[in-house]
Amino acid sequence: MAAEEMTPYGREAAEVADQVAAQYAEEAPRHQQSQIAAVERLLPRLPRAARVLDAGCGTGRPTCAQLSAAGLDVTGIDVSEAMLTAARANVPGARFLQVDLLSEQAADLGTFDTVVSFFCLMNLPEPVFVSALARFASLTRPGGTVLVGVPERPGGAPVKGLSGTYHPPRCTRQDLLHRAGQAGLRVEELDARPGTGIMGAPETHLYLHAHPATRSARSAGVRR
Ligand SMILES: C[S@@+](CC[C@H](N)C(=O)[O-])C[C@H]1O[C@@H](n2cnc3c(N)ncnc32)[C@H](O)[C@@H]1O
Repeated sequence: MAAEEMTPYGREAAEVADQVAAQYAEEAPRHQQSQIAAVERLLPRLPRAARVLDAGCGTGRPTCAQLSAAGLDVTGIDVSEAMLTAARANVPGARFLQVDLLSEQAADLGTFDTVVSFFCLMNLPEPVFVSALARFASLTRPGGTVLVGVPERPGGAPVKGLSGTYHPPRCTRQDLLHRAGQAGLRVEELDARPGTGIMGAPETHLYLHAHPATRSARSAGVRR
């Protein structure tokens, strides 16, 4: 996908991820226990050979590797060529595409039994975050599952990342539930687990397990 075809958010994310990919591959495995546990809990609920999309797959580790080892049909998308190069080497059994999840191209990826996305949406402003969740809902078959992991951000506090200190938008557990409802998702569970950020700072990791709301529930304005 050419940079011009990406959204401004995708382009910016690609620039950062391309710069930090090698360091991310080194550091991230120390901080991914809760994410591995979330996928372990998801696996028994999936049909055999389920089609799974990992949006913002990074290096493919741990998630695509975990899903692929379970015999699932795995597609990983990311905007960063450096991340995708690592992912293709790390998980030869999965398919990796350079696609901006916010772009129109992502709408053409097909339909999946499950869409997962870990630590990819957290720097998006609220309306764009909601659009990303709505995209996941539309890529998931009726009755399928969306699983999204993000750090809880109370708002205002600076966060140290691999490319420096920044001020991420607020995303509390209430925000995440509200955004899921706005995006047409019916929430099954919101799991909050202790974790650490990429620089080792303690933080809470939120895992949203949800399903695309049925058309009738959406049009009737049923509270989800
Ligand atoms: C913090 S990394 C997490 C990677 C992986 N999910 C993991 O758990 O290790 C965030 C990833 O999301 C990707 N990303 C950010 N915005 C994206 C977008 N709009 N479309 C696709 N990928 C995106 C970045 O390039 C990066 O690889």
